Amino acid sequence: MLPNAQEWRRFYDIVKAKTGVDLDLYRSNQLQRRTVSMVESLNLKSLDEFTKWFGESAVNQRWFLDKMAINVSELFRNPEKWTEMINKVLPELGADKKALKVWSAGCSYGAEAHTLAMILDQKFRGRHQILGTDIDQDALDQAKRGEFSESDVRWVPREYKSTYLRQEGNKWFATDVLRSYLNFRKGNLLADRFDSGYDLIMCRNVVIYFTDEAKEALYEKFYNALRPGGILFVGSTERVTNYRDLGFDTGLPFFYRKPIEGNNQWRNAS
Ligand SMILES: C[S@@+](CC[C@H](N)C(=O)[O-])C[C@H]1O[C@@H](n2cnc3c(N)ncnc32)[C@H](O)[C@@H]1O
Repeated sequence: MLPNAQEWRRFYDIVKAKTGVDLDLYRSNQLQRRTVSMVESLNLKSLDEFTKWFGESAVNQRWFLDKMAINVSELFRNPEKWTEMINKVLPELGADKKALKVWSAGCSYGAEAHTLAMILDQKFRGRHQILGTDIDQDALDQAKRGEFSESDVRWVPREYKSTYLRQEGNKWFATDVLRSYLNFRKGNLLADRFDSGYDLIMCRNVVIYFTDEAKEALYEKFYNALRPGGILFVGSTERVTNYRDLGFDTGLPFFYRKPIEGNNQWRNAS
């Protein structure tokens, strides 16, 4: 099945209308290959049939976003990165001395934001505020409930699990202490104006779907949203290739810092 350009246009338009996701800003090869395999797995004959099916229900729309791996997440995803966060990045940010303003951009159902909330409470017990934003309302609703599955919690260290999560059946829920650090709201990274003065922005496993132009424009907006000395944390398969042109420096893979004038050293860089 090889859909033509008009069929793709019709599909992209309905996806934008129903979910707010602008597929024109996503890599077309990867996206179209995955979409065609979904059409085939449903035994539909054309992309137009899939477009119709997609428009019929929120459940179908959610299925498409899930299959695009758009929502996949888990607590302590890439555990070694969180160890670096604790030992090298948070001290660099002075998290032991001051409250941090943090943004989990493309937070899905909040696993990354909850992970950092546990770490900050455990290590620094502060007034830290963590904002999570996403375009997917269902995922945000789950984030607000602080609800996780059995597989979401597999990397959570035992002491964190017993302190910050409670089990109900096969679900896990964040405690009120954890939730007091967190706010979630809808936001489109490719369209919205950003707040500023962030100490830390986490944007992981989100831009993999974006075109290079969309990605570069986003990283520039993140640079402007950070305070001097603030840090951008990206996914473990991602790089900010033009980080020097944007003004960032880096002392650790996957962490990029907006320099402070007169201070070019990461204190704990490896
Ligand atoms: C794979 S999840 C990443 C979740 C989390 N950051 C992590 O690494 O575990 C990607 C998230 O990006 C969100 N997303 C995709 N395009 C977006 C956009 N334009 N604005 C905001 N969020 C977006 C998706 O809805 C999805 O929840």
